[in-house]
Amino acid sequence: MNKWIWILCLVLIGQSCSEDSLPNPLDVKLQKTLRSVSPTGDMEHFILPASNDYASIPNGRKNPLTEEKVELGKMLFFETGLARDAVYSNGAGTYSCATCHVPSAGYMPGREQGIADGGFGFGLNGESREQMSNYKANELDVQGARPISVLNVAYVTNTTWSGKFGAFDANVGTEYLWGLDDPTTVTNHLGLDGLEAQNIEGLIVHRMVVDEYVLDTLGYRQMFDDAFGDFAEDERYSLLTSSFAISAYLRSLITNEAPFQDWLKGDNDAISESEKRGAVLFYSKAGCYRCHQGPAMSANEFHGIGVNDLCDLPGALATGIHDIRNMGRGGFTLQEEDLFKFKVPGIYNMADSPFYFHGSSKNSLREVVEYFNDGLPENPRVPQEQISSFFHPLNLSEGEIDDLTEFLERSLRDPNLERYVPEQVLSNNCFPNNDPISRKELGCE
Ligand code: HEC
Ligand code: HEC
Repeated sequence: MNKWIWILCLVLIGQSCSEDSLPNPLDVKLQKTLRSVSPTGDMEHFILPASNDYASIPNGRKNPLTEEKVELGKMLFFETGLARDAVYSNGAGTYSCATCHVPSAGYMPGREQGIADGGFGFGLNGESREQMSNYKANELDVQGARPISVLNVAYVTNTTWSGKFGAFDANVGTEYLWGLDDPTTVTNHLGLDGLEAQNIEGLIVHRMVVDEYVLDTLGYRQMFDDAFGDFAEDERYSLLTSSFAISAYLRSLITNEAPFQDWLKGDNDAISESEKRGAVLFYSKAGCYRCHQGPAMSANEFHGIGVNDLCDLPGALATGIHDIRNMGRGGFTLQEEDLFKFKVPGIYNMADSPFYFHGSSKNSLREVVEYFNDGLPENPRVPQEQISSFFHPLNLSEGEIDDLTEFLERSLRDPNLERYVPEQVLSNNCFPNNDPISRKELGCE
């Protein structure tokens, strides 16, 4: 072995190395960086479990993960046959949860705003959905914020951008608000985690029904029996059990096949040199790790970074500057200190849909990185004192911006989300959408 290489090994990692296992200094640097910011001091902290490793995935307190629940939830999430509470008959049976959480769009809507009831069309990825002509804007199922990706949502204790759902964690001390101004949060009184509490309401808000028709005509009764045999029969086929099944499915949506995960598990060739430099920046100079924490790179914390709201986009439907969603956590807690602070979202598979932040104000990951690098809030309605002290100019070079962008685009993209999509749903309907235009675009006819 060349003696200089041998000396380099000694200097870099403090041990000698043999010719065939020569460590790449960049791998060593990334390992060291990760260990230095890991709360447990090791790299395991950042590794996601496999999607069927139910013991390692965070479970709901009252909703232990089972295969039967995940299988049922996997159907219900895509089942356009549940869409029976539409405002007009031409909307009925045309949408599902996955209309706004499209797997190929990283479980986001593939456009700046999700439209379920009252929308038509799909395009390739959800991008060409539009308003049906007989629906008025206030009759559509749309919200004044971009749908959050539900990937790795098992790590989210309090769901939505404001974190209003869930009886525990960030919401301890907010009990007096539950159901007060926003009846949807009444479900927090059931003592459930964010997902299980939210999805009870989600079915209602998104105009979906689980009734005799769904159970007996579409044929879901047996799957409920298999999943919830421990529930008394009169409680087995309810919004609660439907929520438990959907929540179990969502908890199984783990991006454990992303290249960064492979690298963490020891495959040094899984990511490129540029991505490794980007990862080092993420976990050091660029400070991203301060908010995007743990294996899901998210946090059950709320921070102000001053991005624009959805109402700032021309053409945004059924929203405006007084939309409560613009206020972030403060819109739920009604505390001044929480105004304009939003939950730190997970950032795996962001490359799948080019609409970033709660107001879809950015259209590429490079723009997102540039926004953090400039450290200048873009939304004039957000007072400076609400902006996080971690949001400031980063002084990254153009090359560093490229590397960090590469890391987000490629290392954090699980290329195999198809494994979470069912072959078919029990109704045999087209999904995620089932209106005539979507059916053509999705190849259902
Ligand atoms: C019309 C579009 C639309 C449909 C349909 C829809 N969602 Fe969402 N979803 C959203 C929006 C918008 C948000 C963010 C809401 C907010 O923060 O106020 C969201 C957020 C979520 C979250 C929170 C994720 C997090 O990290 O906090 C979950 C979970 C979720 N949706 C599950 C579902 C389920 C289950 C269904 C079907 C019952 C569904 N969604 C149907 C638009 C939609
Ligand atoms: C002060 C905490 C904080 C820091 C530091 C931070 N983020 Fe974020 N990040 C957030 C919050 C909060 C959001 C959601 C903001 C919103 O939409 O209002 C977000 C959103 C994002 C999104 C878009 C997610 C989506 O669903 O649209 C990406 C990508 C992202 N951050 C990457 C980064 C990168 C890269 C860095 C480092 C340069 C970084 N973040 C640093 C808190 C932070």
